[in-house]
Amino acid sequence: MAEHRRARIEFDPRFTVAEVPERLFGSFVEHLGRCVYTGIYEPGHPTANADGLRGDVLDLVAELGPTMIRYPGGNFVSGYRWEDGVGPKEDRPRRLDLAWGVTETNQFGLGEFIKFCRTVGVEPNMAVNLGTRGLQEALDLLEYANHPGGTHWSDLRRSHGDEEPYGIRLWCLGNEMDGPWQIGQRTAAEYGRLADRTARAMRMFDSGLDLVACGSSSRGMPTFGAWEAEVLEHSYESVDYISAHAYYHPVDGDLDSFMASAQDMELFIDGVVATADSVGAKLKSDKKINISFDEWNVWYQSSEGYEPPERWSEAPRQLEDQYSAMDAVVFGSLLVTLLRRCDRVTAACLAQLVNVIGPIMTEPGGPAWRQTTFFPFAEASRFGRGKVLRLGAASPSFTTAKFGPVEALHSVAVANEDGSVTVFAVNRDLKAPLTLEVDPGAMAGIGEVTCSTLTHADPDAKNTLEDQTRVAPAANETVRAADGTVTVELPAMSWNTIRIHPK
Ligand code: AHR
Repeated sequence: MAEHRRARIEFDPRFTVAEVPERLFGSFVEHLGRCVYTGIYEPGHPTANADGLRGDVLDLVAELGPTMIRYPGGNFVSGYRWEDGVGPKEDRPRRLDLAWGVTETNQFGLGEFIKFCRTVGVEPNMAVNLGTRGLQEALDLLEYANHPGGTHWSDLRRSHGDEEPYGIRLWCLGNEMDGPWQIGQRTAAEYGRLADRTARAMRMFDSGLDLVACGSSSRGMPTFGAWEAEVLEHSYESVDYISAHAYYHPVDGDLDSFMASAQDMELFIDGVVATADSVGAKLKSDKKINISFDEWNVWYQSSEGYEPPERWSEAPRQLEDQYSAMDAVVFGSLLVTLLRRCDRVTAACLAQLVNVIGPIMTEPGGPAWRQTTFFPFAEASRFGRGKVLRLGAASPSFTTAKFGPVEALHSVAVANEDGSVTVFAVNRDLKAPLTLEVDPGAMAGIGEVTCSTLTHADPDAKNTLEDQTRVAPAANETVRAADGTVTVELPAMSWNTIRIHPK
């Protein structure tokens, strides 16, 4: 019989951490594997619209609720010529994509991406190539995208059928420039100067752009910390964000540490905030640099049995991780951290959107379905809007090899605009259920309370082509309110969305 343990949280809707930034629920579309081709874009698919966008995927994206999408990479962007992807499709060149060892047909490009963003109602987040290219090409792209008309690049866009400028406000200055795998990898000094030069020139076109400098590719990089400091010493006044990327998977079968992956994400955020603030202090700047956590997810990067695709093939199956119920709970815990730290993490992108480590899977010519990770993201994007509340929490712990004792309950409370409060609560313990008591403090009386729980008796249960609905959240009937307290049973290894409405 599993041990019966109790956890408690308290909050007061008057005491807040920060407003949840609109950009916190971003995602990412890279020209990689089948994210674009046979993912979001498949002319000829039975559900495709006139632009070749898959209708079944558009419906799932709407349900998922991303607010912003980063494009076109990722590692891909560091060898990309954006001009290849605009204009008549029959004239677009086929190119080698050295980042992923495949052939890029360029049948999807900037114009198609903007159509996709407008169709699903998300903000575009565009990365420029600072690997094989530099300042001039970034400025050409900016002019093509955002200038109304009357110049070479803006008139070219208009000649391609897009009269109105795209109005892209958020731009990434390259991608993972610290990584040896990156085409055109730079030192921190080289990149810091390049990012600063590029940012200052882009601001001569529009001072209101929001610009992201590349931080470390992961907290495990040998240059982590030193990289951020040096890049920001060069670019502090010209950029708005420093990026962070993190992917998690179990190492050597250590599932308890995997369940506690958010501990690493917390330390990552702490480290980047401390480094950015220390550069700001040295520069005597009033400005704060925030974090764009523009790649995060569970990703089984080193999984056995991964077959690299045929060299130079088109849109092969790459990075098509199938996520388990356990992965979804860890994923939910990463979302809890992003929400808890949204005073400084003011943009974030789930990497990626479709097929490539994505919450949505498709078959070419066939169906689209929800991975297990779809559900925490959809619930967080739907109900995690408003203000994150300060939280008092007490929880029993479990032991991990990597992080020592870790609290089983990982939670965040968000005061929604309609007066309700949503608590996202993860029970990270693989074995022991938790009884959670929620004290909503000065909330004006408790009305209806509901809880949706995602868990599974088999932690490895997945949604697959053959069994697309095996894992899904279900109403948790144990939730109740009495004497000003909400109580609910959280199964071991579970993601829970508790909604508390005022009377
Ligand atoms: O998201 C997959 C890859 O992970 C991206 O292309 C790269 O930026 C990161 O290393």
